[in-house]
Parts: sequence; C-alpha cells; structure tokens
Amino acid sequence: MRPTDYNSHNDGEETRRQLMYIDKLTGFVTSLKDEIGHTPKACVTTFGCQMNARDSEKLLGILITAGFEETEDESEADIILYNTCSVRDNANQRVYGRLGVLKGYKKNNPHLRIALCGCMMQEKTCVDKIKTSYPFVDLIFGTHNIFKFPELLCRMYSSETRMLTDVWEETDTIVEELPVKRKYPYKSGVNIMFGCNNFCTYCIVPYVRGRERSRDPEEILDEIRKLSSTGVIEVMLLGQNVNSYGLNLDTPLSFAGLLRRVEEIDGIKRIRFMTSHPKDLSDELIDVCAHSDKICRHLHLPVQTGSDKLLKAMNRSYTRDHYLRLVDKIRTAIPNISLTTDLIMGFPGETRKDVEDTIDLIKKVKFDNAYTFEYSKRTGTPAASYEDQLSPEIMQEHFDAVLSVVQETARAACATHTGEIHEALIETVSDHDPGMVTGRLSNNLLVHLKGDEAMIGHIYPVKLDICKGFYFLGSMMTNG
Ligand code: SAH
Ligand code: SF4
Ligand code: F3S
Repeated sequence: MRPTDYNSHNDGEETRRQLMYIDKLTGFVTSLKDEIGHTPKACVTTFGCQMNARDSEKLLGILITAGFEETEDESEADIILYNTCSVRDNANQRVYGRLGVLKGYKKNNPHLRIALCGCMMQEKTCVDKIKTSYPFVDLIFGTHNIFKFPELLCRMYSSETRMLTDVWEETDTIVEELPVKRKYPYKSGVNIMFGCNNFCTYCIVPYVRGRERSRDPEEILDEIRKLSSTGVIEVMLLGQNVNSYGLNLDTPLSFAGLLRRVEEIDGIKRIRFMTSHPKDLSDELIDVCAHSDKICRHLHLPVQTGSDKLLKAMNRSYTRDHYLRLVDKIRTAIPNISLTTDLIMGFPGETRKDVEDTIDLIKKVKFDNAYTFEYSKRTGTPAASYEDQLSPEIMQEHFDAVLSVVQETARAACATHTGEIHEALIETVSDHDPGMVTGRLSNNLLVHLKGDEAMIGHIYPVKLDICKGFYFLGSMMTNG
C-alpha cells in the first residue's frame, strides 16, 4: 500500500454540528435521568497509547457536557465506552475478555449502553467477531470519525437499531474545539498530528489510523495557551512520528520550529513529545532541545532491533550504525538526556545472532529504559505473511534474553543519579501511604517522597536519596 499524502482541513462547520448534537443529547440524558432516578453515569476505559488516552479525554468531555457523571466503576455505569487498541493481539484479547463480563451488567441494568471505538474497530475481522459473538454491543465507531460521537449517541438513543455501526476508511478532516475532560489538571497531551505513513512491516497503526495529517500550528498553540490558562504546566506533544510534523502543511513548519513556538508560551514549564522515529530526527531538533529549559531531558527513540537484517525486513529505514551515531550526537549535545526505546523480539526470521546484535546495541547505548514486546502477527501487515515465523518457545527465549539485559542497563542507569538534586513535578499521592507523594523528574524517572495532596501539580527540588531499582526514594530540599 502506498501512502497518499494530502492536507488536512479543520472543519469548523462540523464542530458547530457536533456541538448542536451535544445539546440534543442533553435531552436524552435528562429523560434517562427521570427514568432511572439519578444522574446517569459514564465509564470510559482506554486501551493502548497516549493518543488513545487523549481521545478518551475528548469522548468523556462530550459525555460530561451532555450531563453524564463520570464513574470508574463499570458495574454502576449507564454507558460504558471502550476505546480499543489493536497494536498487539493481547490488547484485542483483553477487550474480548472484558466484553464477556459486560453482558452480565446489561442483564442487571436494562438502560446500560455499550459503545466501542478506537483502533480495533478499524479492523473488519474485529467488527465481524463482535457482531457474531457480542451482539449486545450498542454502538461501534472507528478512529476517523470520533468527532461524530455526539451525533452517533443521539442516533443510538433515538432509534431501536441494534448495534449502530459507523466506521470510516479514511478522513482528511480534523475537528477542533469539542469539549475535553482532562485526567490531570496540571498536565495534558496535545495532538500535533494523526496517522502514520511509515508502514513498518509488523505494524497495524498505518492501517487503523490512516495517513499522516498535521494539525495547524496556530490551532496547536491556541490549545496550549488555553491549557496554560487553566493551570497546565506540562504538555506532551503527541504523534506516531513527531519528527515528520508539518511536512504537508500549506506553510510547512518543522517539528523543531513548532517546539520553538511552544516554548514561548507563558506558564508552560515542561514540554515532552512522543514518538520520535530515528530515521528523521533532525540536527535542528537536537539543537532546539539542547538549548531549551522547558523541553524535558528525555527522548523516547524506538529502535525495535539491533540487527541490520531485521531493521531492513521491518522497513525501519535506518541501520544500527545510523542509530548508534544518532545516539552519540544526541548525547554529545545533551549530556544528561535520558534515552528510552521500544524493542520487538521474535520478528520473523530472528536468529540467535540477531538477538546478540540487539543485546550488543542495548549494552552500547545503555538505555535508561526499554519497553520489550514479543512480536505479534497482525493480519494485513506484510510481516504476517513472512515465512519464517518463530515458534512461541523460541520467541520467549529471545524475549527473556533481551529483557534481562534491558533490566540490568536500566538499573545501572538509574543508580547513577543517586544523591543528585532534581526538580520533580509532583503527580500523585501514594496509594499505599497517604503521607507520601510521587514526583516525575525531567528525565522521566519517578521519585517518592514525604508530602501531601497540596503539592500536586507543583515542581520542587528533590534529593534522590535511595535508588530502588527503577525509581527513587527522595527528600525535599527545603532551601530550594
Ligand atoms: N510510532 C511509534 C510506535 C507506535 S506502536 C514508533 O514507530 O516508534 C508502539 C510500539 O509497539 C512500537 O514501537 C513497537 O515496538 C510495538 N509494536 C508495534 N507493532 C507491533 C507488533 N506487531 N508486535 C509487537 N510489537 C509491536
Ligand atoms: Fe507503526 Fe512504524 Fe508508524 Fe510507528 S512508525 S506507528 S511502528 S508504522
Ligand atoms: Fe494501539 Fe491504536 Fe495507539 S493500535 S498503540 S491505540 S494508535
């Protein structure tokens, strides 16, 4: 399949239409409230990546604006929405498993509506399976028309149709300014682009998220300014490959150029971004990061494998040598940067030699952390039809060998920070001890320290006293 590039357009007319549907939906919610005797409750569950998490905030925003109350307890919900992921088969299986449980809830609560959206719904085989095995699902929609959620809900509540399904193959529309219910008051994801054009041979994302579309920079900056005015101090710019941001805009703007503009926004103290593809990480980007006080000292740079043969088979468009040189360049320009990565083990054709190449690369780079995944065959991707698929036993062997090296280097990298003083943004009160809080450092490491709820959303200087493997116990510097 060839990527076809096109410009996206922001459809203000569509925004107005959907806001009108939210008004209409309020009527349905009010009648439901009269019928059941309490404010109807909505439970939204997210599977998958940060982009899905951000989409869920938008979906929940719509439900709350229409009059639903948020709940995290599915058993008391009047509408349950699963925002699904299909990047690996275990993500799909988790959704199917939980759908089985929902059937019981529906028996207890005849008003309960069940809606499914997200990447799995872009796969015909998944939708077919849901139609036959889970016929009690009320609404199915995909990734390209999530902005139509208000309209689809109105249709669902106003008709007797069983399982309303609306999945689009593609879209060039970006609909701005619908309501959002943020999970955290002090930090927020911000979409800067949608879709992916890279077609790594194992990956389903380009098929379920469509072609790359960049948001207009002014829309992005406006959104961040508004976030800042409501107390957000950290933003995470989101895209499958942020380094190719802006290439197709009417007035092209590089990702580094966008970062420079985001930096100028008052009130924003920390900037993160996800995900960088090693093939087009520019010198300009390294330079912007190196000279910034706001861009965090953390770069997630998925390498996938250390074997040139497999990088080629994966269509990653770089070699291990390119990756190693890039890492050198980054570390020279930004010495204290934390580098994390993704690794796939068990890709078709992977030999022990390939595993050794990967282990060698991990030892050379000394990643601060790495997410390791067993290769999962995704229907419709080129790698699914490669002949030399590995047996589960060999796959497991390769996975285990790499995981132990990853953990070793991550532990060693973490320990080097013992005794240092870092700024920590306090994010939560500890579940286990109400007298402890958890803070995140610019380099993404976590530190637990004495504190209370009032500290959440603020940045404090913290001494990293004791390394506990992958995180720290620390103490607040009082004279900071
Ligand atoms: N756009 C990002 C990654 C998005 S998916 C990038 O290219 O870096 C997140 C991670 O899931 C990938 O980096 C990869 O390591 C893993 N992944 C994707 N497809 C997979 C598959 N079929 N099997 C196992 N892991 C997979
Ligand atoms: Fe998937 Fe590759 Fe695109 Fe990442 S860059 S989303 S791994 S196709
Ligand atoms: Fe999963 Fe879709 Fe994200 S497949 S990883 S939720 S883009």
